[in-house]
Amino acid sequence: MKSGILKKASILYASFSGNTRKVARVAQGALAARGWRAELVNLRNFERGLHAVDADLIVLGVPVQYWDIPNTAKTMIRRLPVFQRTPAFVFTTFGRCVCNSVPWALAMELADKNCSVLGGAQIAAPHSAKMDDGSRLGDMEEAFGKGQPDPATLLGFREALMTVAAKVEEKQTRPIEIERLKALHTRGMTADVMNRISSHRMRQDFMPWVEHLQINCERCYGCLNACDSQAISKDGMDTIVIDRDLCNRCYKCTDICQNSAMTTDWKRFVFLVRTVHLMARDTTSKFVV
Ligand SMILES: Cc1cc2nc3c(=O)[nH]c(=O)nc-3n(C[C@H](O)[C@H](O)[C@H](O)COP(=O)(O)O)c2cc1C
Repeated sequence: MKSGILKKASILYASFSGNTRKVARVAQGALAARGWRAELVNLRNFERGLHAVDADLIVLGVPVQYWDIPNTAKTMIRRLPVFQRTPAFVFTTFGRCVCNSVPWALAMELADKNCSVLGGAQIAAPHSAKMDDGSRLGDMEEAFGKGQPDPATLLGFREALMTVAAKVEEKQTRPIEIERLKALHTRGMTADVMNRISSHRMRQDFMPWVEHLQINCERCYGCLNACDSQAISKDGMDTIVIDRDLCNRCYKCTDICQNSAMTTDWKRFVFLVRTVHLMARDTTSKFVV
């Protein structure tokens, strides 16, 4: 590190099936190797006073859900404190499916929190949720890859982040033009139009409903604990109940259930994902610094 003072980074992330956490860990490792103190914080555990609000760099990563920032993550980001013109780097992981403008949306959220956004990335990391037969959703479509960000992408991410870290060390913290992050949009204009004409709710309803099969259920309540949307509860007989209005269709409950008591119409899911994938273009990993 060029400056003699120890630099601190807060790497904040949301992750449902592990991809974004994996990239966040790469960020932590890279900054630590550079001599920084880098703390990794799941957004849901961020507590004022406990975690550094005086960081020299904020790294913020979320997965793309329904071509948007996941609702739960958006709420948590809005609860973050206002920073002190802190430099920031934003990234998303996404399934190479549907157009999205999420890195830009993240940058706008952080700009509202008085951060100076110095760069961003979108990382192709196909859906890694497991299906009933043990395969992963990302395995279903050749273009999705194998449900993990590949090593070359992680290298590119590391390099982009190191460019930003060097700028922070050299106190060159003038924000980039946030508009430049639009280079990370998949299908630019289409992403904007799609965001305007459909609500998050409409997009969720597009995806197949999760069924609870009582006969397979061993009442371990792993699904209940895994659900980030408070859509799963127990009734008076301790039987699992799913609230259709609250369910985000993230399939984390189907992923966690060892007994196939939580399941969905995977055939319909795969068909829909393949169909919407036809609308996706230019969906490689990209970096802007
Ligand atoms: C509910 C849900 C909605 C998703 N919507 C999109 C989408 O609109 N576009 C896309 O490219 N990927 C989409 N994905 C795929 C995820 O963005 C991708 O798998 C991401 O890497 C998951 O990150 P995580 O493992 O950190 O949760 C969606 C995944 C889920 C669970």
